[in-house]
Amino acid sequence: MQLGSGTLFFSFIFSLLSSQYGAEVLNNITPSHPLFEGQTLVSPGLIFELGFFSPNRSGNKYVGIWHKDRFPRKVVWVANRNKPLALIDTLASLRISSNGSLELVDGKQNFVWSTNDTIQVSSSNTSSVAAVLSDDGNFVVKEVIGAGESIWQSFHHPGDTLLPNMMLGFDIKNGKSFFLTAWKSESDPSSGIYTTELGRRTDMPAQLIIWINRSIPFWRSGPWDKSKFIGMPNMDDRYLNGFKVDENVEQGTKYYSYNLPEKTLGYLDLSSQGKLKLMYSENGRNWSLNCEAQKNRCDIYGTCGPYGICSISESPICKCLKGFVPKSHQEWSKGDWTSGCVRKTELFCDRQTNKKSVPLQGKKDDNDDGFWKIIRAKVPDYHQYITSLDLEDKFNDCKIQCLNNCSCLAYALVNNIGCLVWYKDLIDIQKFSNGGVDIYIRLARRELGEGNSFKLIACLTAIGLIIILVAIVFSLHRLRANRKESIPTSRDTLREYIGKHDPSELLIYDFDNILTATDNFSITNKLGQGGFGPVYKGMLQDGKEIAVKRLSSSSGQGIEEFKNEMLLISNLQHKNLVRIMGCCVKQDEKLLIYEFMPNKSLDTFLFDTRKRSVLDWATRFNIIQGIVRGLLYLHHDSYVKVIHRDLKVSNILLDEKMNPKISDFGLARIIEGTQNLENTHKVVGTRGYMSPEYAMGGLFSEKSDVYSFGVLVLEIISSKKNISFSLYDQQLGFLAYAWNLWNEDKGLELVDETLGGSYSSSEVLKCVHIGLLCVQDNAVDRPTMADIALMLSREKDGPQPKMPVFTIQNSAYHPRPHSESINSSKNEASITMIEGR
Ligand SMILES: *[C@@H]1O[C@H](CO)[C@@H](O)[C@H](O)[C@H]1NC(C)=O
Ligand SMILES: *[C@@H]1O[C@H](CO)[C@@H](O)[C@H](O)[C@H]1NC(C)=O
Ligand SMILES: *[C@@H]1O[C@H](CO)[C@@H](O)[C@H](O)[C@H]1NC(C)=O
Ligand SMILES: *[C@@H]1O[C@H](CO)[C@@H](O)[C@H](O)[C@H]1NC(C)=O
Ligand SMILES: *[C@@H]1O[C@H](CO)[C@@H](O)[C@H](O)[C@H]1NC(C)=O
Ligand SMILES: *[C@@H]1O[C@H](CO)[C@@H](O)[C@H](O)[C@H]1NC(C)=O
Ligand SMILES: *[C@@H]1O[C@H](CO)[C@@H](O)[C@H](O)[C@H]1NC(C)=O
Repeated sequence: MQLGSGTLFFSFIFSLLSSQYGAEVLNNITPSHPLFEGQTLVSPGLIFELGFFSPNRSGNKYVGIWHKDRFPRKVVWVANRNKPLALIDTLASLRISSNGSLELVDGKQNFVWSTNDTIQVSSSNTSSVAAVLSDDGNFVVKEVIGAGESIWQSFHHPGDTLLPNMMLGFDIKNGKSFFLTAWKSESDPSSGIYTTELGRRTDMPAQLIIWINRSIPFWRSGPWDKSKFIGMPNMDDRYLNGFKVDENVEQGTKYYSYNLPEKTLGYLDLSSQGKLKLMYSENGRNWSLNCEAQKNRCDIYGTCGPYGICSISESPICKCLKGFVPKSHQEWSKGDWTSGCVRKTELFCDRQTNKKSVPLQGKKDDNDDGFWKIIRAKVPDYHQYITSLDLEDKFNDCKIQCLNNCSCLAYALVNNIGCLVWYKDLIDIQKFSNGGVDIYIRLARRELGEGNSFKLIACLTAIGLIIILVAIVFSLHRLRANRKESIPTSRDTLREYIGKHDPSELLIYDFDNILTATDNFSITNKLGQGGFGPVYKGMLQDGKEIAVKRLSSSSGQGIEEFKNEMLLISNLQHKNLVRIMGCCVKQDEKLLIYEFMPNKSLDTFLFDTRKRSVLDWATRFNIIQGIVRGLLYLHHDSYVKVIHRDLKVSNILLDEKMNPKISDFGLARIIEGTQNLENTHKVVGTRGYMSPEYAMGGLFSEKSDVYSFGVLVLEIISSKKNISFSLYDQQLGFLAYAWNLWNEDKGLELVDETLGGSYSSSEVLKCVHIGLLCVQDNAVDRPTMADIALMLSREKDGPQPKMPVFTIQNSAYHPRPHSESINSSKNEASITMIEGR
């Protein structure tokens, strides 16, 4: 992302006087003091300024609002956008009229523009009306005496810019609609052809749409998943917490708004070219680009037509969905894809309907349609939302509800939203390289290429991935004794092997390419040493950086972990989980290929005396929130419940923006929905992070991950290691030490002293509280990740934590005899990957 065009965009020469030093500054406009050219109205905190301005070379003059000290200047609101004043008219003024409305008159006192709202004030006394500019950029006309109620405000009449706290959306009952209208050109503020609205009114959940002439869709954001829009995978995480969509179905209101952290200014702007951009400015006086809505052709609505899919990394960018062919081969080959694609084989459902002319009912075995999965996609337009979903098995229920209705063409089970289905032609599908969601497209069984044994397969598909994966994991478990169980090494059989277990697209890399990429596994490329092999950095021929985990060819160990990780993580997609890109097997070599994390793992910062200062409180808090989101996904929101079993600081990787990604799924286990405790005869994990019931009894559940998370949080706050904590005079474990501080109301003393007191005490205390709740001895007392997410977002307060007794006994000073039996207690590493130390 670069600033680039932003500079061109907002270049204006402002009218002669308003921006010069010495311009007279007003705090308000009153009936007795109108605003003339040469004067500006300034907000109390000197953030916004309102005055006369003239865009470059236009010869026209307008009244507008801009940020006082930010360059290039961006006019965020224009009063008379469709009725300019002449540049030479220097006697124009903005005044409070006799009936209390705000009006702009030209030098000859002719009406140009007014606020046009009828005045509720007792008309006999308008001297009590004033117009002021607030620090959030809202221009308000209000009564100065009495309740001081605002009569009119510019936030209710948006131009092309959405400022923080401004709303985009509608109130159906009161017939109000707030949308952005772009300028006609960069130097002409009059209404252009592009508008941005929140949703068609029936869209649930809401999406943003940019229209051309308010009738032709130009771009859409995809549905809101309560933290971002699905169609904007690159929306910057940093500010996501400030974005929200408030929807009140009963009152018929739906609003999108955002706010930014303190001292950060920003604006969301719809350019005259129809581009939506979020710009922000932290300290300096400049603007930088945070994110933009349309980056390439694939972002333009319906580029590939109905049933086409757009992928910017492929050539040509448009393809038909599987089971579809171009409607017009001629147009398609010329690069005009907008007519889209048509189905090759009629759906069984439709054949049935046409034959018997009754909709298909009855057992799903009779239904001969299946679904094709597309991963990392922007979902098509016209989604509908299924509210009643069987919570025990959301994924299957969503699928079955779609399968049972012949009009249903696709479905997707989306985190934080639920079950989306489509009944209209599938249009505007895009494939992303990261982010997006999995969608399932209905196809005739024949198109799925699954042969004749369709009954078996229909059954398998219906029971779904869950069972297959569970079966694999369990059978792998059984096969543990047989370490020599081989993984196919030829490319095609490997592909088949993966294909059999996992329908998603795991790339198979060529061993020679990996050799080149890692410079023959050169020692200089080594990132770290894990429990079952080293991890290397590599660079593919296309310049993409990767991390390669190499199973030691000598050891028979780790094959199970290799398969577990390969199959499990390729089915999990979340921005806070590390992403596997593919694998490579050649004879004794078994490699897993991951996205490269430039900032390595959290422990390289947290426990490093110099580098830990990089982690200011905001970063630490963001890391904690990210880990919570990742775990929430593993425990509650993914299709299968996954217990990580080896959470620790060194398994939290950091991307270039210091966003956390949970890694190393070699020890992870799937557990079925209802069954919450598992027993294992072999305890694996890392000392210091294992919950008592797991370390001692081999029992694991989501609550053992919660325990490890608790340790993690306390370590992140304090930069201290649980396992090697010591206090001069007291023989006290770290957790008990933390608990004692908390109990004496001294929780803030736990904070890493390098933060030097610059942190939010309420956030710190909340995190300490959560950490202590998570490390309670009794698993039942510990909160779930869902509870934790609520507590973090301030909606829920937790109970008082109980003292963690076990940890006192198990502190570094009192090693328990049983610790010898813990599989990997030799050192802090269990089975560790992609970490640099
Ligand atoms: C603004 O005007 C100046 C001088 O006339 C010109 O050099 C510049 O390119 C113009 N900028 C835009 C955006 O039109
Ligand atoms: C203000 O009053 C004048 C006459 O009294 C009327 O013509 C004008 O339309 C009124 N303006 C508004 C905004 O009500
Ligand atoms: C309200 O605005 C419209 C168009 O901007 C204008 O024609 C009309 O005269 C205005 N009404 C009043 C009362 O000012
Ligand atoms: C109008 O309000 C002002 C104070 O804002 C007051 O001084 C004046 O007496 C009032 N005039 C009438 C007619 O009420
Ligand atoms: C939008 O409307 C304008 C004026 O009515 C027209 O010239 C233009 O062609 C329209 N654009 C599209 C894409 O229909
Ligand atoms: C800010 O923008 C001005 C003018 O565009 C430029 O001269 C200056 O170098 C920029 N400063 C920074 C810190 O980018
Ligand atoms: C299928 O879904 C459509 C669209 O919601 C609905 O109108 C229709 O009644 C449904 N048909 C059946 C058989 O449920």
